Amino acid sequence: MFEKIKLDYDFDSLEPFIDTHTLVLHYNKHYENYLNNLNKLLIKNNITYNNDISALLNELQKIKTNDIDDILFNLGGVLNHELYFKSISKKRTISDVLQHENENEFGSYENFVKLFSESANKLKGSGYTFLVINNKKLEIINMPNQVTPYLYGLIPLLCIDLWEHAYYINYENRKKDYIENFFNIIDFSSANDIFYKNKIV
Ligand SMILES: [Fe+2]
Repeated sequence: MFEKIKLDYDFDSLEPFIDTHTLVLHYNKHYENYLNNLNKLLIKNNITYNNDISALLNELQKIKTNDIDDILFNLGGVLNHELYFKSISKKRTISDVLQHENENEFGSYENFVKLFSESANKLKGSGYTFLVINNKKLEIINMPNQVTPYLYGLIPLLCIDLWEHAYYINYENRKKDYIENFFNIIDFSSANDIFYKNKIV
């Protein structure tokens, strides 16, 4: 069973970049719905989950069920939202190592911001822009809907949620401003942990 992660910040702490109402709905409604749907589907299909995404994805590849599309959609919805909520805070931690890697891969932190923003602005419809580890290198990618990079053997480090529910109440159609403000609340501390666990330095 998946359990809801706790946020290590208050709902109103990301104002004015993410408004309180949006964050409350996002965490308590959208994320929770994915998680509840996923757990029901796992129970229905007798699938166990023991905190190991790779093992779960392996198991999903083996089982035959008509629910597979729904399971993958809701699994992506849970994993992507958990990563998003861990990618933002008021602390704005930037890992020295990741920054060092950024300099290698992207030239500079500023260029990383530019490339990540460009990628996010290019995404059509709903989805996410991710920073991932791809074959021991850092890469910026877009994924549609609730596709998780794990499905492609990539390790996601951080992401921005580009579904309209993530920003529309406050930003309306100004997605570009939402993306620009993401860098006022971006936090690499979780990305740093994942990075070290899959050490590529
Ligand atoms: Fe979302």
